[in-house]
Amino acid sequence: MNKKLFFTLAVALLLFFSGESLLAKTIPSGLSKNIANSAEETSRINQPANDGKKISPHLFGIFFEDISYAADGGLYAELIQNRSFEYSPSDIDHWKDKSRWTPFTAWQFSTKGYGYGTISVESATPINKKNPHYMVIDVENAGQEGVGLINSGFDGITIKKGENYIFSVFIKNLSGKAIPMRVSLKDKNDKIFAQAEFTADANDWKKYELTLAANANVDSCNLALLAKEKGKLAIDMVSLFPENTFKNRENGLRADLAQVIADLKPKFMRFPGGCLVHGDGLGNMYRWENTIGPVEQRLSQRNIWNYHQTMGLGYFEYFQFCEDMGAKPLPVVAAAVSCQNSGGTWRIGSTGQQGIPLNEMDEYIQEVLDLIEYANGPVTSTWGAKRAAAGHPQPFKLEYVGVGNEDKQTDVFRKRFQMIYDAIKAKHPEITVVGTVGPNPADEDYRLGWAFADQLQIPIVDEHMYRSPDWFWGNLNRYDSYNRDSSKVYVGEFAAHDVQRKNTLRSALAEAAFMTSLERNGDIVTMASYAPMLANKNHISWNPDLIYFTNTDILLTANYYVQKMFSNNEGSEYYSNIISVLGNNEGQVTFASSCVKDGKTGDIILKLVSRADTPRNADIDLSVFGKVSSEAECTVLKGKPLAENTFGDPKQVVPVKSTLKTTKKFTYEVPRHSLTIIRIKSN
Ligand code: AHR
Repeated sequence: MNKKLFFTLAVALLLFFSGESLLAKTIPSGLSKNIANSAEETSRINQPANDGKKISPHLFGIFFEDISYAADGGLYAELIQNRSFEYSPSDIDHWKDKSRWTPFTAWQFSTKGYGYGTISVESATPINKKNPHYMVIDVENAGQEGVGLINSGFDGITIKKGENYIFSVFIKNLSGKAIPMRVSLKDKNDKIFAQAEFTADANDWKKYELTLAANANVDSCNLALLAKEKGKLAIDMVSLFPENTFKNRENGLRADLAQVIADLKPKFMRFPGGCLVHGDGLGNMYRWENTIGPVEQRLSQRNIWNYHQTMGLGYFEYFQFCEDMGAKPLPVVAAAVSCQNSGGTWRIGSTGQQGIPLNEMDEYIQEVLDLIEYANGPVTSTWGAKRAAAGHPQPFKLEYVGVGNEDKQTDVFRKRFQMIYDAIKAKHPEITVVGTVGPNPADEDYRLGWAFADQLQIPIVDEHMYRSPDWFWGNLNRYDSYNRDSSKVYVGEFAAHDVQRKNTLRSALAEAAFMTSLERNGDIVTMASYAPMLANKNHISWNPDLIYFTNTDILLTANYYVQKMFSNNEGSEYYSNIISVLGNNEGQVTFASSCVKDGKTGDIILKLVSRADTPRNADIDLSVFGKVSSEAECTVLKGKPLAENTFGDPKQVVPVKSTLKTTKKFTYEVPRHSLTIIRIKSN
């Protein structure tokens, strides 16, 4: 064949296949090899057959928000509730008994053993003006056991035999003489599991710290802090931490909970929310500067989920946790507007959005710039010095800053967003700003948000989607047709909401199918995170969540395993036309798949998701790769109940590993209702 004829034929073939793939874009994926992988066909035609499409190597991460007691009473390892007596009637246990809180919440005044005295909440001479309240106990007669305070923790205090607990307290002795004190961990029958004594001897605020060694496993005990003699004491910041926190960090995280999060191997962590960021009205906005420095100097407040957040888990701790997990930090600051659902308009209207007055914007913008300096600035800079003082002279390597969360796209929002955006770009061109396109995957805010993103050329925008499992299966082509020259996408909050918002295998498989489409579109989808991540089973603000917990247990969900299987098996290149399944099931898309290669290890990673009721044969063709190993690691997530809650009995649906014989071409039988990941070594 002469060169000219070959060229003409090649062009004709190219046009033919391009035309077919354009047509096929409107057809849901997964129907068959040729139709389903339409976008992939395009990339195959445009690239040498053995070259993969570069995709984001940090696609899957996590989203942390203090919702459902995720921080206080959850990940933050503090065991004392209301440790600084800052609970107030504006905090309510909204989702439980709607009772208003006070500085006395979780505390009891103990005069057991015929003691007597008085107790009062005072604020005249606090440790710090950001922490205004403290307790004063005036012991007239210490009786046989002492007079003081008992804290019931968050649903009790759980301790483990042989472990140490670090107790600390600030006391100002108002008596003019030293007072002997006793601290103990005991149950409601006064059985003692750990005890220590010290003397409150300073007439100004002084921190006392000692170690309590637990002599038993106890699910629910109290902490008692008692004065053993007559006298008057001001008391604040009563704290009890397990010595064994995640990575043994001071003011650290609950080790078992942090570990299951770290096991996800998240490539990034978005924090501190969610709606919590822009807050319930301007006064409730999350201001990062209030969350750093010594814990007794932080400004606590009610969060948008209505309960109290101590800010003990603050920006330093978030950055530290990211570093400990090897995740890129993605802090989100408010776009200087409050949540549109502020003031009780939640989910009904959008009239609650308020903007920071324009004459205060300079100050607010400076606060955002200070955050970048806090994370990355040299120790000689004002904010870098504060990071160093907290024990981290090295920068935290901040690359991304989110501005805004799900904000209503009004002029009030747009004006302020642009001011912040322009200031970051001017002072920190090295930082990538992540914008927002509203709360829904397709509505007026979404459209306006995208138009605004195009106008400002925002590098990345944050899309949110809480939808039914069917919606996710029906949207596997969502990103195939996104404009490659426009902003990139961070799928910042997604979760399949099944009937009664249960954590079902059905929802988990829908998320898995969708995630294969995110990998296929990993050239424009740079990041994605399931939301929300954590929920204390006894204080749920929102269902479903990825990980449920109590003081004693961690309840993983099928959705958790999907996230873990994907984020533990990320790739840096996407390959098309490797997996094919012929046929359809019950007139709907029932199968989704992806193939990525991990540039670091050279491993080829296949993901196959089926919601079909019967097993399906998938033909796998690895011819485009070099040598492939004859054995692969195969992990399958499946289980019987498709529509039952998986977190009630976490052992129902768990991933199971096995070894699989592989060749260049092989057929894999995909189990019904399953996610399979096959990891194959290659060179
Ligand atoms: O993830 C729970 C909430 O859902 C987030 O706070 C908010 O951004 C979204 O509406």
